[in-house]
Amino acid sequence: MLDQEQLRLQGLDVLLVDHPLVQHKLTLMRDERESSTQFRSLLREISWLLCYEVTRDLPLETRAIKTPVEATKAQLLSGKKLAFISILRAGNGMLDGMLDVIPSARVGHVGLYRDHKTLQAIEYYYKVPSQLDERLIIVVDPMLATANSAIAAIDKLKSDGAKNIRFVCLITAPEGVRAFNAAHPDVSIVTAAVDHNLNEKGYIVPGLGDAGDRIFGTK
Ligand code: PRP
Ligand code: URA
Repeated sequence: MLDQEQLRLQGLDVLLVDHPLVQHKLTLMRDERESSTQFRSLLREISWLLCYEVTRDLPLETRAIKTPVEATKAQLLSGKKLAFISILRAGNGMLDGMLDVIPSARVGHVGLYRDHKTLQAIEYYYKVPSQLDERLIIVVDPMLATANSAIAAIDKLKSDGAKNIRFVCLITAPEGVRAFNAAHPDVSIVTAAVDHNLNEKGYIVPGLGDAGDRIFGTK
């Protein structure tokens, strides 16, 4: 797995969340013996921590309030509600954790699956909130491999007006980051790990296998 200095040397534009709790939970998830129940629960917990990181610079506004002790001024999030966009299926495993942290967010879904031969993303569902152009859009999917799925989802969101987009994943690889940076240089990536490479089947190595299958117990 690459560290932030190696990423910088390779010219990969990605924010690595190397917090010890994230790394500990991710290692448990990678283990092939972990049950789907545990896998889901760990993914939800890591998503809380990634959510804090991706929203670190959200704008705030000052509101006058009265505590039981005195009148004061305090800060609240400002602007239109942000939107989480989950890339189905596996994105839903992260969405739950994101919504734990920001329950008032709007939610959209983009259904995409990878054709196993061509590794191209095939769209089968698309439903997103209105006024994308006025919202911060946070797209979630645990795996950024070739990046074909994430690039296709973001192409579609941009064609619907989205302007301020961030992407959060759990694991990626240099090939995916490079392709994503080239396609959407304006979209930042937040991840818990950048692994070595992709194998001949387009899987991340060492990765954790097929995220959707591990979340939902399918094969
Ligand atoms: C997985 C994953 C991403 C995609 C990443 O989805 O959740 O969406 O692969 O690969 P890429 O970067 O090469 O496009 P998958 O196609 O397995 O669908 P699923 O979530 O329904 O299992
Ligand atoms: N999708 C996954 O679920 N895992 C990978 O390693 C690559 C794509």
